[in-house]
Amino acid sequence: MSTKQNLLKTLEEKREKYISGEQLASLMNVSRSAIWKAVKSLKEEGYDIESTTNKGYRLNKESDIMSSEGIIPWLLPDNQNLDIIVYKTIGSTNQEAKKIALEGAKKITVIIAEEQTRGRGRMGRSFYSPPKSGIYLSLVLRPNVHASEAVLVTTGASVGVCRAIQKVTGIEPQIKWVNDIYVNGRKIVGILTEAVTNFENGLVEFIIIGIGINFKRPEDDFPKDLEEIAGALFDKKPDTLTRNRLAAEIINEVLNICGDLNKRGFLEEYKSHSMVLGKKIKVCKNNQWQSATAIDIDNDGGLIVRNESGKIETLNSGEISI
Ligand code: BTN
Repeated sequence: MSTKQNLLKTLEEKREKYISGEQLASLMNVSRSAIWKAVKSLKEEGYDIESTTNKGYRLNKESDIMSSEGIIPWLLPDNQNLDIIVYKTIGSTNQEAKKIALEGAKKITVIIAEEQTRGRGRMGRSFYSPPKSGIYLSLVLRPNVHASEAVLVTTGASVGVCRAIQKVTGIEPQIKWVNDIYVNGRKIVGILTEAVTNFENGLVEFIIIGIGINFKRPEDDFPKDLEEIAGALFDKKPDTLTRNRLAAEIINEVLNICGDLNKRGFLEEYKSHSMVLGKKIKVCKNNQWQSATAIDIDNDGGLIVRNESGKIETLNSGEISI
């Protein structure tokens, strides 16, 4: 680990508390001038570090740059050894995650970016991913599930994200099947799960869970075509909560659920967050929208609907609207 990374790790661990240059130097076994240089370089990258004579350095609570050093202190002990790679800007974290998985990464890997230039959404859509306001992360997992159960991963991931949001913000999100997450009637999280399956045994070789969160309103607001649908968790940056903190909690919760999908205990939680159960919805079939009523979620995360002629059907993928 470089002096700069080590310094950032220490400042993150002691966020908002002063630590003197002398203490830092002895803790990290480097000279005070090396500390000074590393502080300067971090400040140039945008970290909000305060230097005060006789007190030393501290990372201010406003500082909110995505970094593995800012995430790791919040991860559960079992997750301390994950591979976390953070990019300033990237095309798509899902794309990168897929590349890493195909290259054979065995460990659970997390790809995160401050900004995506070609963020991907469901149904071939794009996902608006400007810098400084969102969390764009992809997890590479190798769950032991059959391809037909892949929707369960998607369902589990959305429950994990809801748990994390609720835990660190107190806000109770709702889920629009399959996995769009809403707050106050606005979509604030999109999830794109992509699986690569072994044709011979039908098992999922690896799965990429891509999660995009509108943490705060983008500086230039949402583009016109998203104005009606998209929202953010916060209008402006909250006082103490950072994107790193929420990202860590999402990783903890999603890995916890996806670690044992067979338990299916999270399905009841999924239903309690559902914004469609019991409601009239529209289902898109062969490019045509048909009316139906959402009745229940089955054991594999499928949506059970009653169509207008009274026929009961289960949807395992696709698009609905309310
Ligand atoms: C959707 O709502 O249609 C799904 C959006 C998923 C966006 C996330 S952001 C991180 C990951 N990388 C991508 O390119 N897409 C997913």
